[in-house]
Amino acid sequence: MKRLLVTGGAGFIGSNFVRHLVGHTDHRILVLDKFTYAGNLASLAGLPAKRVEVVHGDITDAQLVDRLVNEADGIVHFAAESHNDNSLQDPLPFVRTNLLGTYTLLEAARKYDTRFHHISTDEVYGDLDLDDPGRFTETTPYNPSSPYSSTKAGSDLLVRAWVRSFDVPATISNCSNNYGPYQHVEKFIPRQITNILRGIRPKLYGRGNNVRDWIHTDDHSSAVLAILTEGQIGETYMIGADGEHDNRTVVELILELMGLPPDAYDNVPDRAGHDLRYAVNPTKLREELGWRPHYCDFAQGLRATIDWYRTHEDWWAPAKDATEAFYARLGQ
Ligand code: NAD
Ligand code: DAU
Repeated sequence: MKRLLVTGGAGFIGSNFVRHLVGHTDHRILVLDKFTYAGNLASLAGLPAKRVEVVHGDITDAQLVDRLVNEADGIVHFAAESHNDNSLQDPLPFVRTNLLGTYTLLEAARKYDTRFHHISTDEVYGDLDLDDPGRFTETTPYNPSSPYSSTKAGSDLLVRAWVRSFDVPATISNCSNNYGPYQHVEKFIPRQITNILRGIRPKLYGRGNNVRDWIHTDDHSSAVLAILTEGQIGETYMIGADGEHDNRTVVELILELMGLPPDAYDNVPDRAGHDLRYAVNPTKLREELGWRPHYCDFAQGLRATIDWYRTHEDWWAPAKDATEAFYARLGQ
């Protein structure tokens, strides 16, 4: 039985991964989370206390990180400031957590020779044209656009340097856009679902031509576990599930699934520097590790996600007003 340190384990994807570990392994799990606005203890409710321990702390706290890494057999690093729109308003927390925090964890992993898996994003590669037949691969050059994606790119480069210079036993994964339960209402899909549940019209940035490559967060978790157990040290793996859709189509689908006319949304001012298209080629993960996504029907996954938000207002309601007030100040 192993003891894994999961940073950011009270966030959207981190908490999903903790639940996945509880259901699919015998590992004991130590969650380290700062409980920023994005961390939520309720996302870990009901998990067995014998298997899951939660520490409230900051990944930039070197003393705390040293103590926890010393007790762990492996680290899975999800903790980050994760929202592009926030990074355009106030980049400093992104620099601190995503860069300094990753550095702090790497130094502890180096000291104790601890297996390290770094969770990253397809955004580090920049964006693609709508008619580009290509997709991002593990060798696509880095070209990030936003303060968020540039700090994630920097954190990836730190991991690569600690592997090469100090032999830290690390892997990296770069995943596409996740959707599913427990996602903060600031993000695109839950924002539109909860807007509709509140009687507010969905908000589409610009004309909505931007394309994202959607993957259910359960599938992200199963891919991370596959890489953690069978991935090659020093390697990077793209995670994606062939889920490209433009934003307008996604809004129209949500409206249809919620019984409303497809044009019942507002166009609002575009995001500054808005990346046009992300698309991930997951061939390496599929061929080398045999990983397959479970959710292949986007409409079905979206319907289940809508049902979850319908029945979990107690989980999302506390964050809704502040989130909409933030967007109102931006005119979005
Ligand atoms: P999230 O914002 O929902 O959760 C982030 C978690 O990290 C929160 O629980 C927060 O409290 C915690 N945290 C923030 N700063 C911290 C600090 N200094 N110390 C300790 N904990 C801290 O994010 P998410 O969407 O679950 O993303 C998780 C990871 O996955 C991030 O690294 C993100 O870059 C990456 N990722 C996200 C997506 C996506 O679509 N959401 C896709 C690919 C990769
Ligand atoms: O690609 C992976 C990335 O996906 C992750 O690294 C990020 O952590 C995650 O937040 C996500 O980034 P995006 O910027 O793509 O996600 P977001 O949910 O903010 O927006 C998705 C798309 O929807 C994007 O093109 C902007 C648009 N959008 C967003 C909001 C909140 C709207 O049209 N309206 C909205 O209200």
